[in-house]
Amino acid sequence: MIIECSNCTKKFKIQEDRLPQDKIVAFPCKNCGEKIRLDLRIGQTINEKSNEPSPSDAKLVQSPLTANTTHDKGLKDKILKSVKELPPMPQVMIKTQEVISDSNADAKKIAEVIETDQSIATKVLKVANSAYFGMSGKISSISHASVVLGHKILEEIVMLAGAEGILAGKLPGYGYDSKDLWKHSLAVAFGSKIIANSKNPELAKEAHLAGLIHDVGKIILDGYIVEKKEEIESFMETEEKTFLEAERQYLGFNHADIASDVCKKWNFPESINIAIKHHHQPGGSDGNELCYILHMADYIATLSGIGYDSDDILYELEEGTMDYLNFSNENVSQIVLKVTESVNNISV
Ligand SMILES: [Fe+2]
Ligand SMILES: [Fe+2]
Repeated sequence: MIIECSNCTKKFKIQEDRLPQDKIVAFPCKNCGEKIRLDLRIGQTINEKSNEPSPSDAKLVQSPLTANTTHDKGLKDKILKSVKELPPMPQVMIKTQEVISDSNADAKKIAEVIETDQSIATKVLKVANSAYFGMSGKISSISHASVVLGHKILEEIVMLAGAEGILAGKLPGYGYDSKDLWKHSLAVAFGSKIIANSKNPELAKEAHLAGLIHDVGKIILDGYIVEKKEEIESFMETEEKTFLEAERQYLGFNHADIASDVCKKWNFPESINIAIKHHHQPGGSDGNELCYILHMADYIATLSGIGYDSDDILYELEEGTMDYLNFSNENVSQIVLKVTESVNNISV
């Protein structure tokens, strides 16, 4: 289905078959940022100001693959050098994982490790006191949090606090405002964890971490995208391509390739690396369950409209994903609601 932004008249392709059929949904326009509202009962966009259906009726489109590759080796080398120069993962994230995996570690020892980084420790306390954990304002210290919430949850909070520091900046190439990528990543982390808990709880910890950092490649590519912004926009417009396709076309890599290089640099487990590398096409992951979970969570995050993903309404679920996870459209709608609630209840 094609929808048109009533503010800037830019047209977008969306996959409507998994959206709730009897509802009005809203998406941010990736061109002007204005909200596009779509009434799925009648299959038409709604003019934000008049609340009337806009004249652009929904219709089906084809998307041809025709453009030539325009990146060069020098550019690819520069991008790989940027990955090498990326700072290491914050020490407190590594040390917290180490101390928590030691079964003899007590609350005091864990708190000492987290408190070596005051900005992360402050965020951890704020998140621990969120409505999400049902402990609003009751947790007074990190060691108290580890006793009340447990070591596993505390480790997740530290990962979340550390990831915010990495992902919360503005990315003008992708059109992200300061918290857009962070909120999207948070939604994918929650979605991945919810799906993993229902399908294979052993994967829940990795799913949460993979969700948090799956789009970290965008941090590296943003500056290069800024340089080629005009060409990329016109390629996407005339060829009806996604941002992901434009990245490969103009830079030689997409953000998932680069995120996988970051995972290697940060010594992430191989299964997370594979899941992130193929998070837009899990069929290429050789049956990596985490990858299907991540792909579904990424898709669900775009449906929820939280934060902003440059692929947002063009995001297509790879064929076979619903079958692999044994998911129905109802499962998808339920998780959209759960993810939205989770992100609204967490204070970050
Ligand atoms: Fe992505
Ligand atoms: Fe994403």
